[in-house]
Amino acid sequence: MFFDPRLSASGRVACGTCHKPEHGWAESREVSIPHGAVPGRNTPTVRNAAFQAALFWDGRAASLEAQAAEALADPHEMAATPAHVIDTIANTPAHRDRYAEAFPGRPLEFTAVAEAIACFERTLVGGRSRFDAFLRGDSTALTDPELLGLDLFRREGRCLNCHHGPTLSDGRFHDLGLSFHGRSNEDLGRHGVTRDPADKGRFRTPSLRDVTNTPPFMHTGMFQLRGVLNMYNAGMATLKRQPFERDDPTFPVKSPLLKPLGLNRQDLADLEAFLGALAEPATSGPRPWDSPGRE
Ligand code: HEC
Ligand code: HEC
Repeated sequence: MFFDPRLSASGRVACGTCHKPEHGWAESREVSIPHGAVPGRNTPTVRNAAFQAALFWDGRAASLEAQAAEALADPHEMAATPAHVIDTIANTPAHRDRYAEAFPGRPLEFTAVAEAIACFERTLVGGRSRFDAFLRGDSTALTDPELLGLDLFRREGRCLNCHHGPTLSDGRFHDLGLSFHGRSNEDLGRHGVTRDPADKGRFRTPSLRDVTNTPPFMHTGMFQLRGVLNMYNAGMATLKRQPFERDDPTFPVKSPLLKPLGLNRQDLADLEAFLGALAEPATSGPRPWDSPGRE
């Protein structure tokens, strides 16, 4: 079902259209467009999404099930009605048979479809990178530049402040100064969910596992890796207040954890090398052509 475009309103867009296995389960476009673009947001990977407590850049979905249901129905993503999804399953023998096997005795329902897709996503986990081998005790798994990069990542680079834990994400929301507050492309992130002024411009820290395979980066998809590192090195851009925002007490405030880092070119190259050691080997898991929709 993840790979079957017939579940979408147009019959042309599947989850796998935007979450491409060959692109680290993410998308190579800056922002996705099939059914008219999720406003200004880059498609994140679904690999390891199972480990995130809150899904989407703004954390608005609390579970993979809720997220899958939203993606199916969202006019920007698959634009399908529950009835359309159910009809498609009912009229595709392979889907119908597998559904009967997976949910014995359960009538065809939309919530079960979302559950099945969520279960599939829970199989998309990492853990085979060279960094994992290093953590398991293979001291030769990382090169010298990668080891230096790891050191920078946890010390001078300050990255570990937010990128920590098994997925290298704290699961929290931070303002990196990329909200474009007051501009036409404004995206206030977490604030759209909580309406708390303190959340203006905050986005969830993404996982960094396999990150080098999922460019472009940030919720805007505007950056390549070197650009991201250069911005961190500069302490990230500080939004300038426009005249009408001068006295706005709710103007977004960049995270105090960001500071100019003073890293030199070699440091940045080492940091980039370390991020490369988080790459997962090419997946041998399910492929679009394994979908019963393709029979
Ligand atoms: C048109 C492209 C597109 C399609 C189709 C699509 N997605 Fe997404 N997906 C996105 C974008 C863009 C985001 C981020 C949106 C946001 O944060 O507001 C996203 C976010 C997600 C996330 C959250 C990941 C995280 O780390 O928070 C999951 C999980 C996901 N999609 C699964 C699915 C599933 C399952 C389907 C099919 C039912 C699907 N997507 C269909 C583009 C797409
Ligand atoms: C204050 C918390 C914080 C710190 C410190 C931090 N990050 Fe991030 N990182 C984030 C957040 C939040 C995002 C998403 C921001 C957005 O899209 O608006 C992000 C995004 C990224 C991305 C893009 C990932 C993607 O899939 O788009 C990379 C790469 C990255 N960070 C690497 C680093 C490195 C390397 C460092 C250290 C030099 C670092 N980060 C320090 C919170 C942080």
